Amino acid sequence: MSNQPTTDVMDRIVALCKRRGFIFQSSEIYGGINGFWDYGPLGVELKRNVKEAWWTDMVRNREDMVGLDCSIIMHPQVWKVSGHYDLFCDWMVDCQECKARFRHDQLCVWHVRSGPESDPASKSLGYFATIGSGDDALTELKARATKIAKKMSGGRLLDEWKAEPIVDFRRRHNDSTALVRCPNCDAQGTFTAPREFNLMFETYIGAMKDEDSKSFLRPETAQGIFVNFKNVCDTTRIKVPFGIAQIGKSFRNEITPRNFTFRSREFEQMEIEFFCHPSESNKWYEYWRDLRYRWYVGLGLRSEKLRLREHEKEELSHYSCGTSDIEYAFPFLAAGDFGELEGVAHRGDFDLRSHMEGKLVNKDGKLVLDVGPDGKPKYKGSGKDLSYFDDERKERFIPHVIEPSAGADRATLAFICEAYTVDESRPSPELMKFHPRLAPIKAAVFPLVNKDGLPELARPIYEEIRKVYPAQYDAKASIGKRYARMDEAGTPFCFTIDGQTKEDGTVTVRDRDTGHQIRIDKSRCLEYLREHLTPA
Ligand code: GAP
Repeated sequence: MSNQPTTDVMDRIVALCKRRGFIFQSSEIYGGINGFWDYGPLGVELKRNVKEAWWTDMVRNREDMVGLDCSIIMHPQVWKVSGHYDLFCDWMVDCQECKARFRHDQLCVWHVRSGPESDPASKSLGYFATIGSGDDALTELKARATKIAKKMSGGRLLDEWKAEPIVDFRRRHNDSTALVRCPNCDAQGTFTAPREFNLMFETYIGAMKDEDSKSFLRPETAQGIFVNFKNVCDTTRIKVPFGIAQIGKSFRNEITPRNFTFRSREFEQMEIEFFCHPSESNKWYEYWRDLRYRWYVGLGLRSEKLRLREHEKEELSHYSCGTSDIEYAFPFLAAGDFGELEGVAHRGDFDLRSHMEGKLVNKDGKLVLDVGPDGKPKYKGSGKDLSYFDDERKERFIPHVIEPSAGADRATLAFICEAYTVDESRPSPELMKFHPRLAPIKAAVFPLVNKDGLPELARPIYEEIRKVYPAQYDAKASIGKRYARMDEAGTPFCFTIDGQTKEDGTVTVRDRDTGHQIRIDKSRCLEYLREHLTPA
């Protein structure tokens, strides 16, 4: 891959995704809608392949996993008991001048001086907020500080200008002497105080729009699995330890959706809740963490761009006994930064107990029922017994849960970023080196020219392949252009029927990644694909 700045690479990836029909902005002809995306003809195949690979590897090929497909809108009590109603919030601040909205935890505030304090020519330029603290944010800060320095009686930044981070922004922010400048418009002191904002989308069931009919679009697929735990146990012969898997849409009213599809307001999750005996939960946690990491490597994410990050104690949710994130070095991030692809969490018995007893809170390291001033549960659980009787152990217990929770869109974006390759030695330098299992089109069939009996030889080969694999037939444009189009779509193999095919019955097979061609008998095209596309 060529050595370009990462933002430039990301711009080129986004442009290719649009040009080739992988991903479009939702409602684009009306100016788009922030945080929503549409998958085009190539993108829909790619994302289906990602989900299909997950379902095959995590569900179909395992005896200890079953699938589920739950409704998006569930009983509102589900979200009260799970904690989402009270706690699924971000803090936001608004600029009252330009109306831009920011996630409070993403803002960094700096005290900027035009030079060192020891220099009599230097002065304080005040407090500046930036989004994030990476190299890009600092470059932008320098440009903004230069402008402000000029405005302040023609001053300038000295070579040793100073930007010191203000760690305790919230306290500073409420201090009227700290007039922070907005990263969008540079107005000073225009931020509102930070306010809590629940990320769940609200909707109403039925004709009346009142508190009683209020409901939510699910912000995760996981709760549908917990509330069906008993149904699955009662209707299948599966025994603990086992998992329930689900793929489906989730919705979060993100304050600042950004970085292409990375943080969207509507997205798909691929979640597993794995139920096990408490004494075996640490073993299963490690098992799933390592297995999920290897899954991404197996589908082509290079291990130097992936990392497993164990959460610090302070970072853990109040119910979690351990969480690891599988993270990827997305090109829109500053060098050395990683973004979450999937979280693998050891959730103990928090979820099943919550849906039995009611909303739980952590008191002195113990999960206890959250009660109101009247001593009654704040949010009541279902009252149903979700414990499990283990025939072999002759023991009743509430299973512990290990939750590998992945995003289908984030995984698809990571596979797109990884596949994007620039090879300047090719006439059309951009290509997508998708793993063959993920490639939207597996093969293309070309007659070298659209005459001389070549289409008559090519079409039957194409007809045979397309019954088994997504394939394309193309007889137009120069052969170089046709190869380039397939390279951009990430098609691993192209079969070309030429003059020699008429003489000896062979066709060329071109490998997308190397550009090398070999000849095989025309009767072997499908067999060749089977050999190269079937997972080992
Ligand atoms: N049930 C646990 C749960 O939902 P999460 O870390 O909030 O955990 C799991 O989400 C995964 O869902 C993330 O690792 C990410 O891949 C995906 N995800 C979460 N929010 C997203 C968003 N706004 N846009 C796209 N994907 C998102």
